[in-house]
Amino acid sequence: MGANNSKRKGQLVSIDIGSRGVKFSVGEAYNGRIKLAACHAETMPADAYENGIILKFDVVQQVISDALKKYHIKQKNAVVSIESTEMIKREMIVQRVPVEDMISLITYEVKQYLPIDTSNYVIQYKELPPDEGQEASKIKVLMGALPNDMVEAHLNLLEACGLKPIAMDMHSNGLEKLIKWMRQIESYSQAKTCAYIDLGHKMMDISIFENGEYKFNRIVKMGGNDFDKVLMHHLEIDQAEAEKRKMKISAGALRKAMESGKLDAFLSDDESVKATVIKDTLQYFDESVDEIGKVFKYYTSRSSENKIDQIFIYGGTSRFKDIDALIQEKLEIPTEALKTINCVEGLSKIGNDDLSLYVNAVGALIRY
Ligand SMILES: Nc1ncnc2c1ncn2[C@@H]1O[C@H](COP(=O)(O)OP(=O)(O)OP(=O)(O)O)[C@@H](O)[C@H]1O
Ligand SMILES: [Mg+2]
Repeated sequence: MGANNSKRKGQLVSIDIGSRGVKFSVGEAYNGRIKLAACHAETMPADAYENGIILKFDVVQQVISDALKKYHIKQKNAVVSIESTEMIKREMIVQRVPVEDMISLITYEVKQYLPIDTSNYVIQYKELPPDEGQEASKIKVLMGALPNDMVEAHLNLLEACGLKPIAMDMHSNGLEKLIKWMRQIESYSQAKTCAYIDLGHKMMDISIFENGEYKFNRIVKMGGNDFDKVLMHHLEIDQAEAEKRKMKISAGALRKAMESGKLDAFLSDDESVKATVIKDTLQYFDESVDEIGKVFKYYTSRSSENKIDQIFIYGGTSRFKDIDALIQEKLEIPTEALKTINCVEGLSKIGNDDLSLYVNAVGALIRY
């Protein structure tokens, strides 16, 4: 199906649940354009939600229900987008059979090759571009298996919030649809191989696309929370205070401070504490970028032609000042924050021109 041939589904509320924040977007995606009516984010209390797992159902439900009320979101038809390392993803090359038989064939293959009880999983697939020289009788697919209880829990959650679940999506899937739409607009970067990195609170979600086609996705369990923990630990402050101070500093200032020792935005009077905090926070960035580099290396080593031309970052931690420059310098790949989404309309109406926090929620509005 062409990316533009989406059926008209009307307005939806789309919800991206994360360990630190719930992101809402309301809008209608149709014909390659997304008419956005609202975007809102609400803080998630610690230890209530992580990695696609609802740890405290009542707390998460309350946060969502309260936000729906607070922001006057009347739309009932809802989509939830999540990401989880519990999802099993595998590329497979299988016999091409009629569409209605694909799922049972793929389920059969999964039973043969993966040590999981398929009855405990919701299995889905999507077709991938064929490998060079692939037999015409075969089809390359990306199989995704999500635990039944994870799917049920999220559908129950939406219902408990008075919403009508229309679909559940994975972040990387919504992103893929969004990229297809963005690339159809000429002004958008047509770089061949792009890495899109969601820098969140507990995880980094790294996806690689070649000419707009999904290639590869990997989740690394690191995020802004690791930075907060350094501050909380050494400065003996709570999370909210740590986040407040984090937002006052920049990667560039931290690096300068490493040499000069001058950085007062958040630090204690104790010079040795200050030096430790600077060193540990910089180490957090070094390790994060190293992990991204490792994922890239895994991808580029699969073929001599594989190379990453451009990086886009988004998610809460992408807002950390100068983080784009830091990544660009360390990995030597042009890096840009994904703030504007060219196929989105209505930003002036909602009064928000930085969508970097809402990429997953906006992507999930696209249904086809
Ligand atoms: N201006 C900013 N500077 C630095 N960090 C920021 C800024 N704004 C938000 N953050 C950080 O971004 C993180 C939240 O981002 P986001 O909402 O994308 O995470 P999440 O989706 O809840 O987490 P995850 O997906 O990892 O479970 C927090 O660590 C927050 O402190
Ligand atoms: Mg997130």
